[in-house]
Amino acid sequence: MDLRGKKVLVTGASRGIGKATALALAQEGADVAVNYVSNAKSASEVAEQIKAMGSKTLLSQADVGDRQQVEAMFRSIQQEWGGLDVLVNNAGGRCDGSLLELDEPAWQRALEVHLLGTARCCRLALPAMIERKEGVIVNIGSVAGLRGVKGIAAYATVKAAVMHLTRCLAMEVSQDNVRVNCVAPGIIDTDFHAVTPAEAKRHAIDNRIMLHRLGKPEEVAQAVVSLVKNDYITGEVLVVDGGLTMRIA
Ligand SMILES: NC(=O)c1ccc[n+]([C@@H]2O[C@H](COP(=O)([O-])OP(=O)(O)OC[C@H]3O[C@@H](n4cnc5c(N)ncnc54)[C@H](OP(=O)(O)O)[C@@H]3O)[C@@H](O)[C@H]2O)c1
Repeated sequence: MDLRGKKVLVTGASRGIGKATALALAQEGADVAVNYVSNAKSASEVAEQIKAMGSKTLLSQADVGDRQQVEAMFRSIQQEWGGLDVLVNNAGGRCDGSLLELDEPAWQRALEVHLLGTARCCRLALPAMIERKEGVIVNIGSVAGLRGVKGIAAYATVKAAVMHLTRCLAMEVSQDNVRVNCVAPGIIDTDFHAVTPAEAKRHAIDNRIMLHRLGKPEEVAQAVVSLVKNDYITGEVLVVDGGLTMRIA
């Protein structure tokens, strides 16, 4: 897909991976709607950067874990832009805790934000894509959804579900020339890991990540851009983890 003039929504674009992705897509000439949940100042700064690149932008406040807010966001995008060509489902935060530690509201929240948030944005974006017979969705999964991980049962489980939703949806919409892919990041240096103890990050860098450093949000963004641009990739989960999950010993 040639991104010039294409209409894109990146959820959770005020910071981290979403911000880097929104800017990378704008760099390719796309008009990018910036979704955020609470950080209006950061979101406005991203929107200003997009405008400075010569692209159009919209600021879209909505909690992707709330169906009504997401519906309102899509109504306003529909009014302003008449639908989307590209959707990047990135929004979401941590939901730490083992199965025994997490209560049901915490599980519900993880499901609402990561899995249903992704599914409902897809449902609302797809009709325009199907009508135009062109569209791309990229979901942000996680390597935590590829392997068992101790202490983040809900997060790892919903991310595994996001990756499987990607494959199922890719099959459902391929006849309409809509592609659905996923990027599974490893440990990326964003606010998401601000609460990760320094010694845990050091241990990962020294012993687990083959490239011996954390990833940069821009490196995940480049993977998203390549999945959007390459017209012959669908149903794929692209791991961007510096070799974190490749080793067996
Ligand atoms: N960093 C990593 O190592 C890593 C690894 C694997 C996967 N991921 C995934 O990558 C995605 C982005 O992570 P990140 O590291 O960039 O995190 P981040 O720096 O903490 O940024 C999170 C972004 O998501 C937005 N957000 C959070 N909850 C939201 C909600 N309910 N509705 C709408 N927006 C919401 C935040 O908006 P506000 O600014 O308004 O709060 C912010 O823009 C997440 O899905 C995360 O699970 C991250």
